[in-house]
Formats: sequence, structure tokens, C-alpha cells
Amino acid sequence: MGYFNDTSLGHITSVTTNTMEQVGDIATRAIMMVLQGSITTVVVALFMFAFDFRIGLISLAGITVFLLVNQWTNRSVARVANEKLSADRDVVGVILEYIQGIAEIRNYNVIGQNQSRVQKAIDRKKNADIAAELTAIPAVGVQNLIVKLIGVAIAGASLWFYLNGTMELVYTITMLLCSFMIFESLDLAGIYTALLKIIGKGVDLANEILGIEQMDIDGETIVPANRDIHMEHVSFAYENRKIIDDVTLDIKENTTTAIVGPSGGGKTTITSLIARFWDVQEGKVTLGGRNVKDYSFDSLMENFSFVFQRVYLFEDTIANNIRFGRPEASMEEVTEAAKRAACHDFIMALPNGYETVIGEGGATLSGGEKQRIAIARAIMKDAPIIILDEATANVDPENEKELTEAIENLTKQKTIIMIAHRLKTVRNAEQIIVVDKGRIVQTGKHEELIAQDGIYRNFITGRKQAVSWKLS
Ligand SMILES: Nc1ncnc2c1ncn2[C@@H]1O[C@H](COP(=O)(O)OP(=O)(O)OP(=O)(O)O)[C@@H](O)[C@H]1O
Ligand SMILES: [Mg+2]
Repeated sequence: MGYFNDTSLGHITSVTTNTMEQVGDIATRAIMMVLQGSITTVVVALFMFAFDFRIGLISLAGITVFLLVNQWTNRSVARVANEKLSADRDVVGVILEYIQGIAEIRNYNVIGQNQSRVQKAIDRKKNADIAAELTAIPAVGVQNLIVKLIGVAIAGASLWFYLNGTMELVYTITMLLCSFMIFESLDLAGIYTALLKIIGKGVDLANEILGIEQMDIDGETIVPANRDIHMEHVSFAYENRKIIDDVTLDIKENTTTAIVGPSGGGKTTITSLIARFWDVQEGKVTLGGRNVKDYSFDSLMENFSFVFQRVYLFEDTIANNIRFGRPEASMEEVTEAAKRAACHDFIMALPNGYETVIGEGGATLSGGEKQRIAIARAIMKDAPIIILDEATANVDPENEKELTEAIENLTKQKTIIMIAHRLKTVRNAEQIIVVDKGRIVQTGKHEELIAQDGIYRNFITGRKQAVSWKLS
């Protein structure tokens, strides 16, 4: 996740599609042509040496000049190839971003401004492509000229040697033929070596992605003795900004913990650290007494079900989206989970029921519906620890009843960590943790915290005002 965080979508998309396609398409051909051309050149040159030493020397001199020019060509092509590949990536990234943000862009009526970013990226790519061609064409032209000159020199010298009587006619004819062969094969090799440079850059980019260090996913398979969660003096920063600052907390098995606090305080980050979406930089996180780093990725994940703040649904049927965590689940189990997550009714109202295909990212469902599908998914997985990141945006009164019911069904007999914005869920929690600016500022039950002068009381009274304002 750290990698996806700081490397742009455009880069990955462009390398795994464009660049790889280019490499796959031309690499074998280019390597073959270069090999074939070089081998033929060497064989023909040796042949010439064997027949006539003088002609052999001329071709050797010619090949040397050719190689020098070829070096120069390749170096200049490599220079423009960098800019070309980077401009390619840029275009993909900017266009992806533009399409993903199109709703915002229209909303704020900043089409022109954003189009100009897209336009700039396209212009940059255009210029890079033209520069690449302008560099390659003259270079290849010069190479071509040299190859032809070698051919002419060999042919001319052979004729000259014949005329002054130092070469027999049959040799002269053979050398003339060889002069054609050598320039054809050199030419071939020359054109494709420039392409090899570009392919080389592409392969470097692909290797960069393949070389990304994996988070240690082959830890031990551990079935924890219990599901007590413990964080000890944990600190964490995304890149350089410290987000979590010396947090220590305990979450006992089968209890409900609510995490509350101002937006941006670090609530989501704390839950991500518990499930090891990121590695802590200081301190440690344990599950059942074992450091989460000791677990294999799979055996750690078996303990958690997530309902994220932003739900992602795949472009697939609703049924498949629900059975995501357990692909072998039967239709009955899917329906059962949907009923418990209060989804069944709205799903049945869709044109194809459970077989309705939802748009990419769940674009065709409302926020509340998406969240309830995510809950059905979590019910399906039936993990012992549920982490629920409530989305503030979806907490409208119509959705509230269904959501509460769904959450209650999800959370029976489980360890619940809930980032909550609704008073009702917070008040019933066995432990409330108030997070502000990456630190835990208050811990306790509702009654204890409400008695203290602090963020919690402000949070609750603020809520009450908001709720009464809504009802009045
Ligand atoms: N992937 C990320 N990369 C860099 N910074 C991040 C990332 N995710 C969150 N942050 C930053 O970390 C801080 C804490 O974010 P976090 O999502 O944990 O807050 P939160 O308490 O869950 O807020 P909210 O109530 O709005 O969901 C924020 O300042 C945010 O900008
Ligand atoms: Mg959050």
C-alpha cells in the first residue's frame, strides 16, 4: 500500500500496458534482426579476409566506422527515449485522473483548466514523439549512408584490383556480391539496435515494478490463542509527516471499541496499522500476544473483516460482490448475508436482482447501499474481528435504521473496532477511544468521558445539536 500511495496510477498503468505491449511486440523481432545482421556481417567479413586480405581490411575499416556512428545514434536515441517514456506515462496518468475526477471537474466548472492539463500532457507527448523521430531519422540516415559507402568502397576496390591485374575475375564477382550482402545485413542490424535501446528502457521500468520489495508475506501461519489486540508505543508516518504519535491501547476479545475524534486525527490509520496494511515505524502491534509481523499475510487477514469508509465494489454481479470473501459460497448463503445486512429488498428491486451487474467502483448504487453490500460481504467472511469505518456521508435518517440493523447483525459475538460518527453506536461501546492529532487523548466509557471537560464532550454536544437541528 505504501507503494501505491506514492507511485501514481498513471505510472503503473502505463508500464503494465503500453510499455509491456511495446516490449512484447518488438523485442523478439529486434533481437532477432540484430543477431542475424551481426552474424551475417561477421561471416561475410571473414569470408572476404579469406579470399583477399585487402578487401577484408576495407570492410573491417568500414565496419569500425559504422559501429562508432551506431554508438552515437544509440546514445542520442536513448536520450530522447527517456523523455518519450516519461511523457507516455504522464499522458496516461493525467487522462486517468481527468476521467476519475470528471464529476468534480463539472461540479466546479473547471473544465477548461483541467483540459489544459490534459492538453499540456498531450503536447508534451507530441513533442517528445517528434523529437524522437527527428533524432532517429537523421541518425539512421547517416548510418545508412555509411553502410552504402562501405558497399561502394568494396565494389570499387574489387574492380580496381581486377583492372590492375591483382585480382581474378571470379574473385571480383564474388566480392561484388559480398559487398551487397554486407551492407544489407549491417543496415538491418543498425536500424534495430536503436530500437533495442528503447526496449531496454522499457524492460528497466518493468523490472522496477517487479523489484518492489514485498511486505513480508511469508510469515508463519498462526492461529492466535485469543483475539486481544494490543498496541504499544506505536508511531507511524506516511512518508515524512508523523500521523500516529506514541499510541498505546488495548482491545479485549469480544468487546466493542469505538474510535472517535476530529477528521484527519488518525482514526482510519490506527485501524490500518492493526491489520498491518502498513508497518509501524516505532513500537509494536500484537494480536493474541503475537506481533502482527510474525503472521503470514493470509493467516493475519483471516482474523479481520473490514467495512471501509470508502467502499469499493467490482464491476460484477451483486452476488459475486457479496461472495467476494468466500467465492465458493452458495446462493442461499449470499441471500442470507444480504438479508442480514438489510440489502435484500433493494437488491430484489433491481432489474436482475442478485445477477445485476454493478458499474465499476459501484457507480450505480447509492452510498448507503454500497456500504450495506460491504457489510454483507463482511458477514459472509465471518471473521472474528470486525473493523468498521463508518462513512459520515451516508448517515442520513433513512439509511440509519437499515445500517444500524445491518451492523448489529454483523457484530454479534465479535470483536468490534468501530470508527463511529453516530452517537448511538458510540454510547453503547464498552470502550471509547478519542483520537486527536495522532494521539489518544481520552479513553473510557461514555459516562466517564462525558463527565470530563474535553474533546469527547464537545463531540457529543456538537452531535446532539446537529441531530436536534436535523429533527426540528
Ligand atoms: N495514504 C495516505 N498517505 C498520506 N497521508 C495520509 C494517507 N492517509 C491518510 N493520510 C493523512 O493522515 C492523517 C490521518 O488520516 P486518517 O485517515 O487516519 O484520519 P481519520 O481520523 O480517519 O479522519 P476521518 O474522520 O476524516 O476519516 C490525515 O492528515 C491524512 O491527510
Ligand atoms: Mg477515516
